[in-house]
Amino acid sequence: MGGGAEIDRTELIAAAQAASQHSYSPYSNYAVGAALLFEDGAIFTGTNIENASYGLALCAETVAAAKAMGEGRRDGLLAVAVTGPENNATPITPCGRCRQILNELAQLGSTDPLILCVGSDEVREVRLSVLLPSAFGPAHLE
Ligand code: THU
Repeated sequence: MGGGAEIDRTELIAAAQAASQHSYSPYSNYAVGAALLFEDGAIFTGTNIENASYGLALCAETVAAAKAMGEGRRDGLLAVAVTGPENNATPITPCGRCRQILNELAQLGSTDPLILCVGSDEVREVRLSVLLPSAFGPAHLE
């Protein structure tokens, strides 16, 4: 489940950072990038999109997951890189809603993706199941 050896961490983090260049975050000035790696090597990226109605902001991870699922992806999610603003020392972790959004894709394909939480001083690696234990998912509705 969600193996580690085949993950090119440098490439995935670079993809997330590149995506964050397109961040629309004039209200928070907090640009986030996300990159989802699938078993066939495909990478889907996203960045946060804010709104004048502040509460409607879309997180980078959610945008990336929507892009992937909107292109037909339903399984094989291996890893996710999340990047914050360039000089943010503390590794960024996905917000609660994004954990749940990612969990849908993970459980559909029975993987436990590795989440790379990127900070300028440290990259924290943690499985999604650790970030979201006892997750509610599609299996509950069967
Ligand atoms: N944000 C993300 O894109 N992902 C996260 O996991 C945390 C927060 C965005 C939402 C908002 O646009 C900005 O970061 C500040 O909260």
